[in-house]
Amino acid sequence: MWLYQRYPFYWRLILFFRKQKFINVVSLATLEVSGGMMAGQVGLTDFFEQFLGKQPLFINKKVMQANYIPDIIPHRKAQIELLASILAPALRREKPSNLFIYGKTGTGKTLSVRYVLQMLEQTARQKGTPLKTVYVNCKLKKIADTEYRIMTELARAMGRDVPTTGLPTDEVYNVFLSAVDEQEQIVILVLDEIDRLVAKAGDEILYNLTRINSELKHAQLSIVGISNDVRFIENVDPRVKSSLGEEEAIFPPYNAAELKDILEKRALIAFRPGSLGEGVLEKCAAFAAREHGDARRALELLRVAGEVAERENNDIVKEEHIDKAEEKVERDRVLEIVALQPKQSQAVLHATLVLLSGTKKKIETGEVFEKYKEICAQIGLAVLTQRRISDLIAELDMLGLINAKVLSKGRYGRTREIYLSIPDDLVEKLRLKLKEELG
Ligand SMILES: Nc1ncnc2c1ncn2[C@@H]1O[C@H](COP(=O)(O)OP(=O)(O)OP(=O)(O)O)[C@@H](O)[C@H]1O
Ligand SMILES: [Mg+2]
Repeated sequence: MWLYQRYPFYWRLILFFRKQKFINVVSLATLEVSGGMMAGQVGLTDFFEQFLGKQPLFINKKVMQANYIPDIIPHRKAQIELLASILAPALRREKPSNLFIYGKTGTGKTLSVRYVLQMLEQTARQKGTPLKTVYVNCKLKKIADTEYRIMTELARAMGRDVPTTGLPTDEVYNVFLSAVDEQEQIVILVLDEIDRLVAKAGDEILYNLTRINSELKHAQLSIVGISNDVRFIENVDPRVKSSLGEEEAIFPPYNAAELKDILEKRALIAFRPGSLGEGVLEKCAAFAAREHGDARRALELLRVAGEVAERENNDIVKEEHIDKAEEKVERDRVLEIVALQPKQSQAVLHATLVLLSGTKKKIETGEVFEKYKEICAQIGLAVLTQRRISDLIAELDMLGLINAKVLSKGRYGRTREIYLSIPDDLVEKLRLKLKEELG
């Protein structure tokens, strides 16, 4: 109510937009003048007109998006050639070896595999070779849940309709098998982020899939597994390890110079010529190479920097826009990490945030445990022991979501002193995210 008394209409409009971070101070000033003269809505029309009158920074923004497959893939020649040579026997109707691909995040694994599959399919089509490729990303929420759901998804990817629940898993498995075996053909099944599948449903399913060829009469199946968890293959059933890892391909991280090259080639198509300021590509590349050379991060930084510059009415992306983009990307990453945590960890984090939402800046494990139990009761989650909760708190600390310092309490044992390590405005977003995740 105070807002209505203190500010005239056009200022309220401005405040609203500032809150939404839609427009910056420069355009706000224009809006204020025209808003003052001609009533609020006309001001907005002017604003949109002005927006459309400006030269856009992006001329083909989709080139900067993650799922875009560029024509040229620099610095992955050796890996692409290796994948192509492993999969090429499919063109002679011979079963390619199973293949396991690993490398850290953003090293071009998914892109390279999709590119090679595309080219392979194209050649097979031209030559009339019966080849089918199936790509499944196991990270997608709807998939990597239970063996049943994974098999359902695989059967669907082979064009068969399977009910979401109700059939015995064996039967869904048979539906998949018969779809693969319906004709003489080579089927290449790509399981991307395969570690997620095993984490949620165990490695039994992989064991069954790698043994499927003995049951096929007409077709042959090859499996390509992709993971950014280097330890994954060491921890699976040794029989799966030897079968899936018949061939291996490693994707090393890019260095800063390679990242710059990658950015440059994509930016050339995505941005209006002359719209990238000096040092911008170098800075994005250097930022993205800091932990390990991650092309996704480099591209995201440049895209977001472009969006920030556009919103600030700049016709050139400058180095300062990258600093702002870095901050935003970092925030989004925190939210993504939280969404990927198991429910128990999310409940512990939620308890911590609730306790630290007021004036309290520090809490201890025991308090978190009490709050956590309340939350579990509310959402129907099984309560773990305080010892386990203490471990989860340590994990959240490792992820950088909270700070947890071990305190010795002499003969009363040990506890952890917990405080927040993320900025206040992000805490609010995190709280909303957790609410959504925990239902
Ligand atoms: N050599 C390259 N040239 C052009 N773009 C690239 C290159 N390598 C990666 N990219 C781009 O970087 C982003 C990340 O690549 P990709 O998805 O292939 O990574 P990944 O290794 O599969 O990572 P993750 O393990 O996280 O799934 C994508 O947008 C992709 O198009
Ligand atoms: Mg990938």
